[in-house]
Amino acid sequence: MVGVFIGIGVGPGDPELLTFKVAKALKAVDVICVPKSHINKPSMALGMIREVLAEREKPVEIIELVFPMTKDELNNRKLWMESAAIVAEKVKKGDVAFITLGDPMLYSTFRYLYECVKETYPEIELEIIPGVTSVTAVAASSKLPLAEKDEVVTIIPSDLDPTHLEDVARHADNLVFMKCAFHIKELIPILLKAGFTENSTVALVKRCTLLEEKVLVGKLCEVEDWDITEDYFSVAIVKKSQVPIHWKQNGNGCDKSGCGCSHE
Ligand SMILES: C[S@@+](CC[C@H](N)C(=O)[O-])C[C@H]1O[C@@H](n2cnc3c(N)ncnc32)[C@H](O)[C@@H]1O
Repeated sequence: MVGVFIGIGVGPGDPELLTFKVAKALKAVDVICVPKSHINKPSMALGMIREVLAEREKPVEIIELVFPMTKDELNNRKLWMESAAIVAEKVKKGDVAFITLGDPMLYSTFRYLYECVKETYPEIELEIIPGVTSVTAVAASSKLPLAEKDEVVTIIPSDLDPTHLEDVARHADNLVFMKCAFHIKELIPILLKAGFTENSTVALVKRCTLLEEKVLVGKLCEVEDWDITEDYFSVAIVKKSQVPIHWKQNGNGCDKSGCGCSHE
């Protein structure tokens, strides 16, 4: 085998959050595989690496791999196996990268492809380069610490079964909701049952670090009044405690504690 298969995390959106190591790898690999949820949809991850690709000395082959967002395990596995075969073919001639939003090891398509490659082509050398996760980016944008002192932080997919969610929430100080966190209003009753209070602090960040980023910060009792639009790219942080809110959007913001307005 001539090349290596590299899973690369390209961060949450802002191209300036690509690490040096990621940029170096993207300039050196021979092939870049780009995951897409639909053939006609542009890839956000590819958009984020355009500037780095423009600095390449030699051309690169871009392969778009379509993974529709469905829970059809059988069809999904078929697609990952087909993609693994493409990777196996390309890696015979050089290094192949697979780019993924945020980090490749946190709720990423890369994980499935990586398993199929490992299982079917054990001779292929694998490497993973981490990226800035949306979790840490959202903490930065909302200026809410993910965890301090002896706090326990738990990451939860927003569509988790409500009974499981209540149980998990009961044992955590801070929760991070990923995957469609715009459903946060529906989660409030469960959080209240799990020991969170009306004064617990909440941040909801949509399209974090992108130009259209929207940040909402306030108390749990204020969330009901928030104007929340559906967006897959949203993450919420909910802290059991009430903490001082330092969030302020440049230019037209307000930094009042518990303000909860959107400042768009
Ligand atoms: C399949 S997971 C991918 C997570 C990614 N691997 C990471 O490390 O952040 C997709 C979820 O990540 C979150 N996400 C990714 N990028 C985001 C962004 N720029 N702003 C807000 N949420 C984002 C959303 O919750 C979205 O539903």
